Amino acid sequence: MTGFETVAGQTLSGNQQAAERWSHALMNNFGVPPVELVSGRGAVVTDADGKQYLDLLGGIAVNALGHAHPAIVDAVSRQVATLGHVSNFFTHPTVLALAERLLDITGARAGRSAAAGRVIFCNSGAEANEAAFKMARRTGRPRIIAAEGAFHGRTMGALALTGQPAKRAPFEPMPAGVEFVPYGDVPALRAAVDESVAAVFLEPIMGEAGVVPAPDGYLAAARSITAEHGALLVIDEVQTGIGRTGAWFAHTRAGIVPDVITLAKGLGGGMPIGAAIGIGAAADLLQPGQHGSTFAGNPVCAAAALAVLDTIESDCLLDHVDALGKHIATGIEDLGHPLIDHVRGAGLLLGIVLTQDIGPATALAARDAGFIINAPAPEILRLAPPLILSTEQADSFVEALPGALNVASLNVASLNVASPNVANVQTATGRDL
Ligand SMILES: Cc1ncc(COP(=O)(O)O)c(C=O)c1O
Repeated sequence: MTGFETVAGQTLSGNQQAAERWSHALMNNFGVPPVELVSGRGAVVTDADGKQYLDLLGGIAVNALGHAHPAIVDAVSRQVATLGHVSNFFTHPTVLALAERLLDITGARAGRSAAAGRVIFCNSGAEANEAAFKMARRTGRPRIIAAEGAFHGRTMGALALTGQPAKRAPFEPMPAGVEFVPYGDVPALRAAVDESVAAVFLEPIMGEAGVVPAPDGYLAAARSITAEHGALLVIDEVQTGIGRTGAWFAHTRAGIVPDVITLAKGLGGGMPIGAAIGIGAAADLLQPGQHGSTFAGNPVCAAAALAVLDTIESDCLLDHVDALGKHIATGIEDLGHPLIDHVRGAGLLLGIVLTQDIGPATALAARDAGFIINAPAPEILRLAPPLILSTEQADSFVEALPGALNVASLNVASLNVASPNVANVQTATGRDL
């Protein structure tokens, strides 16, 4: 026996071997991943059995430039060969350039705009929201408002802001003071916010809730309500930021300027980096000694982020994302498939709304057919591909989608016939962030 043979002497595939090893070596916080990815190039990844997939999820809105993009490979290689890490006792040119660049695209660079900003770096989206949470606490006000269904991360502060009770429940008690209002409901937000509120946290499109865009006028109303009561407006752009929706930030389409913007995911193009940008008075809430992280603003991750920003600009990817997103949405709706209701979202963050709860089963069927997508809700398929996805690649998915839906529909129907009491069999994998 090699250790990868079953008792019956059957040899396990590469993916099966990986699943077996995972189940013994890694904590079971997600369930065992059925596929081991071993390499990627552009928007295509390859698994341990040599099967290729079009990656339409991009590490969940992370691989902005796809896999092994030469600009990132070059920037990271040069940086790690020059200066791989410095402590917070020092600065370095790459982090300074990145902070200034982020302030430029935010329109908050000191001396160049009325409301100057400052950046604090971290390593993930949850940590970006932790920083914003601490900024909110520094106002001295006790209450924080967030949205039902929102997702802001898994650390305790970010989890406290997450409007999904099932995710919070195993870890109660949460940090105190967070209240939830229905997303998109202006009167509810107005009723909740007064002078005791430190901050309102909102996503411009709720990605994990199923790609739910803010209704027209909601972000603008949130801006005026928070401004009226002196509360911070924190916009979580972790999933929507850095070109994902066809603009640098999704909130700019609403014509607002938040007090704090949180970023991660696409910023590093696959290297772990996050940031919170404070604008105006919010830029000075954190004082020396109040926050930090050993790796925050790490030179290698900062170099990757600069490469992402440079490439988005030089390759005109914002326009490409805007046009391709519309092309995909129209192509999918034009299929006229009875299991597709409509497509929502913006740019390359799209939610395909199904007429039945077969999202997870469709994601599985699509994977079998060579396309990586996911189902953040039972009736929603999410696309968050690399921003460099080509029109031909997108079209190949649109063409394959009806087949995946049909297979999923048959699979779910036969499972329900076999075990009618299993309410939602297709969510059994339970994998999400
Ligand atoms: C809007 C939003 N905020 C925060 C997070 C948490 O980011 P991370 O997983 O990097 O901690 C996510 C992750 O999906 C997200 O979508």
